[in-house]
Amino acid sequence: MDMEIPILKGRKVVVGVSGGIAAYKAADLTSRLVQAGAQVDVVMTPAAAEFVRPLTFQALTHRPVALEMFSLWQETEIGHVSLGKRADLMVIAPATASTLAKLAHGLADNMLTTTALACRGPILLAPAMESGMWANPATVANMEVLGRRGYFSVGPDSGRLASGAEGVGRMSEPDAILDAARWVLGRNGPLAGKKVVVTAGGTREAIDPVRFVGNHSSGKMGFALAYAARDRGAEVTLVHGPAARTAPHGVRAVAVESAEQMQAAVLDAAVDAAAIIMAAAVADYRPKAAAEHKIKKTQGEMALELVRTPDILAAVTTRRAQSGSPRVVIGFAAETCNVLENAREKLTRKGLDLIVANDVLAADSGFGVDTNRVILIDAGGGAASLPLMSKQAVAETVLDRLAALLGRC
Ligand code: CTP
Repeated sequence: MDMEIPILKGRKVVVGVSGGIAAYKAADLTSRLVQAGAQVDVVMTPAAAEFVRPLTFQALTHRPVALEMFSLWQETEIGHVSLGKRADLMVIAPATASTLAKLAHGLADNMLTTTALACRGPILLAPAMESGMWANPATVANMEVLGRRGYFSVGPDSGRLASGAEGVGRMSEPDAILDAARWVLGRNGPLAGKKVVVTAGGTREAIDPVRFVGNHSSGKMGFALAYAARDRGAEVTLVHGPAARTAPHGVRAVAVESAEQMQAAVLDAAVDAAAIIMAAAVADYRPKAAAEHKIKKTQGEMALELVRTPDILAAVTTRRAQSGSPRVVIGFAAETCNVLENAREKLTRKGLDLIVANDVLAADSGFGVDTNRVILIDAGGGAASLPLMSKQAVAETVLDRLAALLGRC
């Protein structure tokens, strides 16, 4: 599976590590940023170097670690302000109470605070400290000041702290920080200011309080689309069926169960949306009535009477015919045979701008797996067969097409 993330690829990211026990997690964050394709420079405070050796970061980044303000070779190679000046993004993880206080007052007394003060790009803070320090009015005031000055922040989370106590102050996990970094980098992207609705996962149609009619959709494709849209700056609403996944940072997630609930959430979110991408596997039928209590078994056979659910895409395009919005409507076609023909028919029947067709019976494509082999078919009849790709890469391609379609509108 490729680990590269387009929004991070080739971007200059400075990771600032200040002196807290969470500094060990900064090594993981650094590794992930490097794997995602970013060019990472690490800046440490002297206190951070007491927790984790600079060599760890140097080995992960293959680049010198900036620690000493006035070291002669570092001054010529890096310069005490040049790292900050050329950074696309600086992530300070962990950001200790002391570092936050220094930043709030514009101090530049070590390599980290100097780099931050010289930084022209956005700065993302991942605070980590004891809960009492986090709740202290001084820290609260410092965070307010930094927020007003345009600093971004992620966390801290609540949980077990280094002292053994439970409370708020744990640094967010590297995955969550990476996700927030993507959001910060993408916020002025090609879809900035545009609302995009994405649906993901399968719906569940209740038979009784403990059983449902459902399908194998895992939500992976839809969540990947939400990430890709968010990375391009879109304001994303992700309407999803039951899925054990966390929604991307900055995305509004609406959890639903049934097709009817999904339709209500989609139509609500679609009112002023620029685009909608329906990746959800919506049940076409539901039990006529859900039993109030658990159905008890009997000796004989049992028949379940099913009735049609609403076609959400059809409702969206019907509304578009009246209001003109959303401008772009993209659907998916889950097929088990005659993929191209069936998908073309669906595109026309549902009045779509683009349909992403996949053969859900193929082992490397469709439900549950991380890869997909799809055909993109547009309203003009053009069809592009993509090779086997990660769902993330398919999502990036679909979002590139969406940006082009919106650009044309
Ligand atoms: N879809 C929808 N509402 C439904 C069923 C499907 O909006 N009640 C959307 C899906 O999210 C997808 C597209 O319609 O984007 C095609 O879904 P698919 O299940 O492949 O097709 P169906 O419309 O269900 O047609 P068929 O059952 O004939 O394959």
